[in-house]
Amino acid sequence: MTDRFNPAVQILKDYGYDSAKLIPILQKIQDAYHYLPEDVMRFIANELKISPAKVYGVATFFAHFATTPKGKHIIKVCNGTACHVKGSSAIISAVKEKLKLKDGQETTADALFTLECVSCLGACGLAPVMVIDDTVHGQMTADKAAALIDEVVKAEASHGN
Ligand code: FES
Repeated sequence: MTDRFNPAVQILKDYGYDSAKLIPILQKIQDAYHYLPEDVMRFIANELKISPAKVYGVATFFAHFATTPKGKHIIKVCNGTACHVKGSSAIISAVKEKLKLKDGQETTADALFTLECVSCLGACGLAPVMVIDDTVHGQMTADKAAALIDEVVKAEASHGN
């Protein structure tokens, strides 16, 4: 039971239980747990002697923080203007189909992938753009997107052996 909070305790120690460091603390918590679980946020609030509302407020204010579980691999498809004009909708549809995501579902049932549709990734010259785990792929097509997903799945399968 308490094991679950061990990473959080270590992170709090590293930051000297300083509530002024809440943002970097949450960053490390997200790295450790892959998102910000509600019970861990409550634990952090209690340990830092600040209100849970303050912790939730920070967690939900920054788009960068995730309060729901994410997949191991994050796929971002840009749907900003430049990418949209060059056909990002077809890529989003292809990725959803490939990952068997239902409407409103972002993370695959096996928690291997999360799909995020984002606005401008700042690489409009490469439109349409897709990012997998921080690697930018430009001039994307539905077929290329599906092939990249296959590569990740294959790499995962070979790690498992
Ligand atoms: S609109 Fe897609 S990278 Fe700018």
